[in-house]
Amino acid sequence: MRRTIATIGIVAASLALASCASSNRVAGVSDAEPGSLAYDRDVFQTLLGNHELIKREVHEIPDGVETTTESDNSDVAKLLRDHAHAMKARIESDRRIRQWDPMFVTVFNYASKIRMEIIDTPKGVRVRETSTDAYAARVIQAHAKMVSAFAANGSEEALRAHEPPQE
Ligand code: HEM
Repeated sequence: MRRTIATIGIVAASLALASCASSNRVAGVSDAEPGSLAYDRDVFQTLLGNHELIKREVHEIPDGVETTTESDNSDVAKLLRDHAHAMKARIESDRRIRQWDPMFVTVFNYASKIRMEIIDTPKGVRVRETSTDAYAARVIQAHAKMVSAFAANGSEEALRAHEPPQE
């Protein structure tokens, strides 16, 4: 009986490792369940703490933005992919985050009008984020500038509230 339990333990552990290796999860970043607020927070706090390792380019297009966010550090690159996909899922299911910050209230108020396409790159992500709604497109552009400020300034920037564009 003991041996069976030990074997199940080993199989479960190797499955966990295999799924970790094939996903964008980085061991040790969070003990929380992926998809939970606690997990997403651990990921973005780690990104903020490693902001100096992140390079970001934003190209504004008439209906939104095209962004490239990358790192030479492979763990940070994985977390960038993990974060972008997790935030896309939050936008698509209106699972709100950071609601004390007016920019994020507005982003989620317009979530149903936002289209996010993510391409994983070897060092991170390329994101095309657009809307057919003119104001939502401006919100996307303002949010992208704020993400650039997170990447430039790290946790210090995350303490600030950000105003959405005037309607
Ligand atoms: C260094 C820190 C961070 C980096 C590098 C980062 C990166 C990104 C990237 C690449 C995207 C895709 C959209 C785009 O490229 O503009 C994104 C979207 C998003 N991020 Fe972050 N992020 C950071 C911090 C945060 C924090 C602190 C929060 C919330 C507490 C957050 C919440 C979101 C949300 C809600 C979205 C989807 C909404 C949207 O794109 O309009 N991010 N982030």
